[in-house]
Amino acid sequence: MAWITKDSAGTQIETRSTRYFTAEMEKTIREVHLPRFEKPKGALFAALHMVQHHYGWIPAQSMKEIAEVLTIAPSEVLDTVSFYEEFWEKPKGEHLVSVCRSVACEFCESTACTEAIKAKLGIDVGETTEDNKFTLIELECIGSCDTAPVALIDEDLHENLTPDRIVKLIESVQSGNYTKGGTGAVKEDL
Ligand code: FES
Repeated sequence: MAWITKDSAGTQIETRSTRYFTAEMEKTIREVHLPRFEKPKGALFAALHMVQHHYGWIPAQSMKEIAEVLTIAPSEVLDTVSFYEEFWEKPKGEHLVSVCRSVACEFCESTACTEAIKAKLGIDVGETTEDNKFTLIELECIGSCDTAPVALIDEDLHENLTPDRIVKLIESVQSGNYTKGGTGAVKEDL
């Protein structure tokens, strides 16, 4: 195995004058979370979840701001963010389509579903459509192997998918006919 290294010591990050890690977030961290931990780093996950929940991703500037509040190195924040795939280092689309790629779903042709989504949206896995409506990712097992193949549209679980079915669901989101709640239902079926 070979490690690919890159020189990031001189990396410039985009900044804005308004803090991402707001005064309100900082207050909550200081008053609610920090007292619960022996070391300030214990509150890192809470801070990251706040930022991601608010913005949908974790800008590099916010990592520096969090590091200042927790008195840790910005690299420690980046290490955590980049380790967990649940944390997003760049903006994602308005809707996140996540297809399970683990073994049960793969046996039940999740790959065909993924290919159908890629063709429908004109993007690859890990990409976002130009209109910022959809981001497509693949996930490991999400615990619904008995109804494989499965995918999430945002937080809704859709089971027993076929390529046609997932495309129909995507089209329902595009047309505003999507019914929240999962299991493959679109309004025209109800
Ligand atoms: S393998 Fe897809 S839900 Fe378990």
